[in-house]
Amino acid sequence: HKLDLKLEAIEKGGYEHFMLKEIFEQPKSIADCMRGRLNASAGELTLGGIQNYAEALAQADRIIIVACGTSWHAGLVAEYFIEDMCRIPVEVEYASEFRYRNPVIKEGDILIAISQSGETADTLAAIELAKAKGAIVFGIVNTVGSSIARATHEGAYLHAGPEIGVASTKAFTAQLTVLIMVFLKLAKRKGTIAESRFRELLIELESVPQKVEKALKSDDQIREISELFKDAHNFLYLGRGYNFPVALEGALKLKEISYIHAEGYPAAEMKHGPIALIDENMPVVFIATRDSSYDKIVSNIQEVKSRKGKVIAIVTEGDVLIPKMADFVIEVPATHEALMPLVSVIPLQLLSYHIALMRGCNVDQPRNLAKSVTVE
Ligand code: G6P
Repeated sequence: HKLDLKLEAIEKGGYEHFMLKEIFEQPKSIADCMRGRLNASAGELTLGGIQNYAEALAQADRIIIVACGTSWHAGLVAEYFIEDMCRIPVEVEYASEFRYRNPVIKEGDILIAISQSGETADTLAAIELAKAKGAIVFGIVNTVGSSIARATHEGAYLHAGPEIGVASTKAFTAQLTVLIMVFLKLAKRKGTIAESRFRELLIELESVPQKVEKALKSDDQIREISELFKDAHNFLYLGRGYNFPVALEGALKLKEISYIHAEGYPAAEMKHGPIALIDENMPVVFIATRDSSYDKIVSNIQEVKSRKGKVIAIVTEGDVLIPKMADFVIEVPATHEALMPLVSVIPLQLLSYHIALMRGCNVDQPRNLAKSVTVE
């Protein structure tokens, strides 16, 4: 037993928890994920696992993404990205709903399954169903040789290394990185992206690990903010565009490990319900980085402030407007809006970690949850 504890301490690499280690590992895991695949100066993307069916992917008139939990959130970001860059309509499905609802799948349809563990029962069943109806299935998987990796026709591994903390962190950013690479390559092949934009995104993507490194520097500030909100009973997370799935992911992280009720919402939907919850006791986390919906989200912040909500805003470095309205601001480095989820999710991971720790929760093994759900 003593030996086990020692071994665990070594595996944690000096961090108090696996989750914290995995959060801080992200500059490296994202870089690992791009290694040998992304060559920004040459303008090249190489994905060895997606070759035989690359033409079928290019011909697809729609793409279905299936996943569960955090992987489903990565799928939502991919939906924005694929429609934006490749001009292919995308549907993102909870694997559990998809498999039981007699979905319309035709021969040659493309299904993308996203899974960290590669063992999620619902996702695996959705794949089998789609295959039986003639779909071509790609896997975006972390665990090499897992059931989902074996069940798919082709795919790309994350190369993020094992993820031990039950709450997924580095797998999420690696999933985004792989999906971005796959679909940037497809956009190039289809000619739906201008060469200059393609090049610009490759260069931006290459610099993401440094930006994540910088975003991690807010750790001390986030710990202080956590101290003030650790006893809250509810949290609201709001974002728009590419940051909408990030809001969902931030809320999920908080629920999973701190057991605080949290909801993620598209900021503009707030007025159709959640706004009724806002009073001086309601912390609202805005993911409000500089992008095409910036002005809109600034108005949403004002709406919350005029109802006395407490605003914690994730903003782009150097923002001068939001600090005048929000109670707390956490800065992240600027990047292209399509890549921002890779950076803007970092403070949300840290916020949930610190709050959970302060509430005395078991961060790495939250109650009632399992790392991989192999039963339905
Ligand atoms: C479980 C885990 C989550 C994960 C989800 C999907 O609920 O606790 O962290 O996001 O399963 O798992 P997968 O391995 O398929 O990505």
